[in-house]
Formats: sequence, structure tokens, C-alpha cells
Amino acid sequence: MIRSVVQGCGAYLPERVVTNAELAQRMETSDEWIQQRTGIRQRHIAADGEFTSHLATKAADAALKRAGMAAADLDLIVLATATPDETFPATATRVQAELGMTRGAAFDVQAVCAGFVYGVSVADSLLKNGIAGTALVIGAETFSRILDWEDRGTCVLFGDGAGAMILKAEDGQGTSADRGILANVIHSDGRQHDILYVDGGPSSTQSTGLLRMEGKEVFKHAVVNMAQVVGEVLGKAGLAAGDIDWLVPHQANKRIIDGTGRKLGLPAERVVVTVDRHANTSAASIPLALDVAVGDGRIKRGDVVVVEGIGGGLAWGASAIRW
Ligand code: UT7
Repeated sequence: MIRSVVQGCGAYLPERVVTNAELAQRMETSDEWIQQRTGIRQRHIAADGEFTSHLATKAADAALKRAGMAAADLDLIVLATATPDETFPATATRVQAELGMTRGAAFDVQAVCAGFVYGVSVADSLLKNGIAGTALVIGAETFSRILDWEDRGTCVLFGDGAGAMILKAEDGQGTSADRGILANVIHSDGRQHDILYVDGGPSSTQSTGLLRMEGKEVFKHAVVNMAQVVGEVLGKAGLAAGDIDWLVPHQANKRIIDGTGRKLGLPAERVVVTVDRHANTSAASIPLALDVAVGDGRIKRGDVVVVEGIGGGLAWGASAIRW
């Protein structure tokens, strides 16, 4: 049996850090409100001229280095983003060129904050079907470009960044038989469009548009769906909540993360939290958090890691991985 085994991960954050205090100088908000409601203390914001592809390429470089691999070893790039450099071609092809990868295929997936889970699911399927042998899955976003900076209810919540993970198809007969992606679950419900969307696009308005969200509604769906989808992916993998070594949730709000952990009966120490430093980076938030927890030695080879995310669509999903 073929398994998609993690070879390494990496991340990149833009240099500029914007604190809550800095935002409070520009609009009617406060560090206290933002921290209490969301757990966010700061976010990174891309520089002028710094695009999603640039962040993605840097994260990819870091992942290749960690994996001890070169771009020439890759067959596939799946880039999850809702903030592509251009309407077309896929931002993944820009990353492909930047990395110097001259073969294989590169394309984007669009599932907003669930994008990384969708990307992992797609890459895992292509590896298992023999269409590719090695895949780079990236989540990269420059949400600062689609925020309404006049809307304090949304603009304080998001940040920019990128994270990447490399998967390799390995034969289950080998020594790593028990490692790799164990199960994926993806869902969407298009009826919930109006609670989180961007009010523009090439076909409708011929402009990019800005993010619109009914935060309270999204919050309600998030708490219910996140615990449910984790239960579903665990069931598919033949595991129980007690088997989870690390839950790495999409980083939108500390209260959603805590609520999901509680519903699953997980101790807080088993849940990776980076929303305080990164804010909500949409498709980038899970691989950014993975990179932190691998980098500081928490996630180790053989650990059971469950990732989960929900966002615009609504779209949501989870993957269970033996690291
Ligand atoms: O990544 C995709 C998934 N997205 C999410 O998971 C987001 C889910 N939603 C949330 O995280 C929360 O709903 C928010 C953090 C967005 C908002 O928290 P809330 O507890 O639902 O607050 P609210 O929107 O109901 O606003 C409460 C109050 C309002 O004032 P009034 O009407 O009670 O007087 C807002 O006007 O807080 C006010 N408010 C603010 N005050 C200071 C809204 N934004 C701000 C702000 N600073 N930035």
C-alpha cells in the first residue's frame, strides 16, 4: 500500500510585524478587545511588491532544506491560496519557475482557510494513484490585500504568511509502513456563502473585492464542524481522540481552538496555538503552525498529528498524519 510520507516542512513570514497597539492608533479598537475576543497579539504584513508567490517560494525553499531535497526531486506543487498573484495562471506555476523546477505539474486549489487540508487531500490522492511521486503542498496568503481597512470587525483578524510540506509516496512494505497521511476528510456547504466571502472577482465585478464576514455566524459553524470533522477523520484512520499527539487547528480564533480541544477532551498542551503571533493567515495558518511545532521539537517522527480547518464556502476538512 502506498503512503504519502512527510519529508519536511518549512514556513516564511513577512518581516513587518503589526501589533494590536499599532492598529489601535489607526482605528477604533484596542489591544484588550482583540486579545480577549481572538487571542491575537500581532500579525505579519507583506511589504509593497511582496506577493503570495514570493512568500510561497521562501516557505518551499525552507521545506526543501529541512527535507534535504532539491526542487528537481519534486513532481508536483499544490498551492492553496485565496490571494493569488494574478487571476491566472496559477500562482503555483510562478513558484515552480522560482524554484527552478522544470518538470512535473503545479496548480492552485481554492478552499480559503481549509485550503491546506484540501491541498493535502489532493496531493495524497495523486501520490497514491501514481500520478506523482513527490509533492510540495503550500498554503500561502497575502490577506492584507483583500481586507477592508475601514472595517475593524475584520481587518484586525488577519495576517500574511506561507507554510509548506513535502510528501513522498512510499511503499508500505518499507520501514516507514506506519508513517504518512492516514486519512483525509473534506466538506463544503455552498449555502453558507454569505457569511464569509469576498465581494468581487474577475467574472462578477472585474475587480478583486474585499473580505466580508459575519463573524458570529462563522464562529458557530466553526466550533460545531471542527470537532465533528476531527472525529470523522479519526474514525477513518481507526484512531480515537486519545491517540492524538498534536492537534494543529486552523488559527482563526483562540476561543474556537480552545472550544474544539475541549469538545475532543484534549489537554491544552496537545493543541498547537500560533494565532497570537500570526493571526489568521487563511490557508497558510496550519503549515505555519506545523513548522513552529516541528521546529521547537514538539512534533516528532511517529507522532499522530491531526490538522483541521474551516473557512469561506463554507469549506472545511481534516487530515490525520503519522509524522
Ligand atoms: O478563518 C475563517 C474562519 N473565521 C473565523 O473563524 C472567525 C470567527 N468569528 C470570530 O472569531 C468572532 O466572531 C470575531 C472575533 C470576528 C468577533 O467576535 P464576537 O465576539 O463575535 O464580536 P462581535 O462581532 O459580536 O462584536 C462585538 C462588539 C460589537 O460592538 P457592539 O455592537 O456590541 O457595541 C462590535 O462593534 O465588538 C465590536 N467590535 C470591536 N471593538 C473593538 C468589533 N470589532 C472590534 C474591534 N475592536 N476590532
